[in-house]
Amino acid sequence: MKAVMSIVLGLAAAGVVGAETVKLPAPTGDSGVTVVQALKARHSERAFSEREIPLETLSGVLWAANGFNRPDKRTNATGMNKQTIVVYAIMKSGAYRYDAKENALVKVCDEDLRPAIAAQQPFAATAPVSILIAADLSDPIYSGAGRYLSNYDAGIVSGNIYLYCAANGLVTVCRASMDQAALKKALKLGDKTALHLNHPIGYPSESK
Ligand SMILES: Cc1cc2nc3c(=O)[nH]c(=O)nc-3n(C[C@H](O)[C@H](O)[C@H](O)COP(=O)(O)O)c2cc1C
Repeated sequence: MKAVMSIVLGLAAAGVVGAETVKLPAPTGDSGVTVVQALKARHSERAFSEREIPLETLSGVLWAANGFNRPDKRTNATGMNKQTIVVYAIMKSGAYRYDAKENALVKVCDEDLRPAIAAQQPFAATAPVSILIAADLSDPIYSGAGRYLSNYDAGIVSGNIYLYCAANGLVTVCRASMDQAALKKALKLGDKTALHLNHPIGYPSESK
């Protein structure tokens, strides 16, 4: 609860741009952990502390997942450079689409969708935030030869999230499980959007 409150307050402090758009602070800088150290530390974890996630850290997670590291290209590779991945931050205060160009969160739903993310694995709803990795399949390539490209794209985003978490003291797990129908309904997404993976994220549980 404390963690969620912090994120909510953080969103308010970050500056509401439009009625439902929140400008994020710059992502956290370099933690000093090397890539090899992050690879050694990477693992899946399914218990989370109530400790708050600072908004600049959430900004860093989102940037690592699907942000821009060049004017027109991203931290994650995509098949044919379609940049088709869309990520959402799913929190108690609602669901937000990450606008990477603006470094902002755009609110798309007022509901707490963490139970729909968790589905049959209740632990997932205890994380203060889950990153939902979706793909916009409106390009015709995805109905033909490129049918599976966005699945691979999503896997690369997941790897980025794992490594960012490992390098910044956060824990997470990549999940394919989720209530797809409930999420699509709440987020008003149709057949041209695929929901591939999600990542509950938090600090390690103190009770471990
Ligand atoms: C594509 C994919 C889907 C996964 N789905 C789930 C899931 O729905 N629930 C879950 O608890 N873990 C899920 N996992 C996590 C794996 O169980 C985990 O990565 C595996 O046990 C290896 O553990 P490690 O990540 O600590 O190396 C998934 C992992 C991948 C790559």
